[in-house]
Amino acid sequence: MSTPVKKVPIHLQSAQNRLLIKNGKTVNENEIVEQDVYVEDGIIKQLGRNLLIPGGTRVIDARGKYVIPGGIDPHTHMQFEFMGTTSVDDFYQGTKAAVAGGTTMIIDFVVPKQGESILDSYYAWRQKADDKVCCDYGLHVALTSWNDKVKGEMKTLCEKHGVNSFKMFMAYDFYLKDDELYGAFQRCRELGALAQVHAENGLIIKKNVEKLKAFGVTGPEGHEMSRPECIEAEAVNRACVISKQVDCPLYVVHVMSKSATETLKENRDNGTWVYGETLAAALGTDGSNYKHSCWHHSAGHILSPPLRPDTTTPKCLMEYLAQDVLQLTGSDHCTFTREQKEMGKGDFSKIPNGVNGVEDRMSVIWEKGVHSGIIDPCRYVAITSTNAAKLFNVYPRKGCIAVGSDADIVVWNPSKTRVISSKTHNIAIDFNIFEGMECHGVPEYVIVNGRVCVDEEQLRAVQGHGKFVETPCWAPFIYAPEKMDELTAPKNNGALNEIELTNKLAKIE
Ligand code: URP
Ligand code: ZN
Ligand code: ZN
Ligand code: ZN
Repeated sequence: MSTPVKKVPIHLQSAQNRLLIKNGKTVNENEIVEQDVYVEDGIIKQLGRNLLIPGGTRVIDARGKYVIPGGIDPHTHMQFEFMGTTSVDDFYQGTKAAVAGGTTMIIDFVVPKQGESILDSYYAWRQKADDKVCCDYGLHVALTSWNDKVKGEMKTLCEKHGVNSFKMFMAYDFYLKDDELYGAFQRCRELGALAQVHAENGLIIKKNVEKLKAFGVTGPEGHEMSRPECIEAEAVNRACVISKQVDCPLYVVHVMSKSATETLKENRDNGTWVYGETLAAALGTDGSNYKHSCWHHSAGHILSPPLRPDTTTPKCLMEYLAQDVLQLTGSDHCTFTREQKEMGKGDFSKIPNGVNGVEDRMSVIWEKGVHSGIIDPCRYVAITSTNAAKLFNVYPRKGCIAVGSDADIVVWNPSKTRVISSKTHNIAIDFNIFEGMECHGVPEYVIVNGRVCVDEEQLRAVQGHGKFVETPCWAPFIYAPEKMDELTAPKNNGALNEIELTNKLAKIE
């Protein structure tokens, strides 16, 4: 018996499945080309001029516009239980907002409770996200305890569940001690994964908080005072030193200060295998907001590491991105309402840490990077999409405009402007750290897996349209053959790798 096949009417098929983006300039990390893009069934099928296209294909005219790979935000916290509350953007609202702003993939953090199975926590995150996401997503997994069970489950996550990155905290109650970081980094290296760190010295912060409170400091300004730049830079240095002992590639998340970036650079120049991510928040605003007379305004800007009082920081970080001292940008989107922030009224250390950014990251970086003349559109694509795709090993499926890649595409109009405001944004809070910023460059069309989800600036995101994307270990961009040769070659740079150790012991005999 044959099953009846439900025929989709031809006009709907073409609207859904076939799309031609004409007359635009495609931008990849290495070149800008005037060419058309033909998409079928969610995949880029042809690039060029005068393409042969089936009748009934929808045509988008991109004349005068850039056609760029959809943004990949490698750092979000949707629906995250943290500091006694839960961030308010869930995977539906958060990814809807991402799409509105030109981001077509996010990578969120599974953060297990201390002692909880990291595998169970991963399943719980999949359950929170799978039916809700409007765009594709991947997962990093945080290690909040260190023991043999965690070590075993890391392998399962890598080999069976498409996880290739693990975040270790050096601050908060669930930080790992130095010897635990050593073990965790070593395990990442064995598995071909990427070790990520939240770099701040948590023990010193704790002492500083006590001291400030004893002096009567209770307001949001105490947050940055308790965790100044040197607290971040020290931890970046320590993470670099530890990762070098075990030759593990390291990814420092949310680099927020000049000192931390300089420390990262110094370590890289001395042979540490390290990558740096900064945030839209760090590029688009600064720590002068902690001096604002309105408590809610100040508290609304609290995240860790904090924004810096040195107002030259945002421009400086953008220059570091231009020079490849830093490689990529995330949002660290983790939103709390005013009421939630009020949990820290009278005690700044209890203000839930986190700010918005998933929706505005692409606009803020275009404005502060391309429009202000520090980077070109190619570098923009690299730091908002391509480098994340490469490091988390989903390139060239994502992160470029190429035949065979997923049709995650943004038609970016550099001539239009928009003003960021909580009155018009798509996230769940009534506050925006970029309030009032005029941004040149608007995502006029956002195509997610071949579907037009922003259409002439109108948001048409679809719940459940996204899917989980596996991020396999041994990313060729990280573990490239040249890199491996370099690692096994004799050297004297402070790393205690096995070859080096064998050589040293041989000399003693
Ligand atoms: O303040 C922040 N960054 N909140 C989110 C959690 C984290 O440390 O990334
Ligand atoms: Zn963090
Ligand atoms: Zn106010
Ligand atoms: Zn974060």
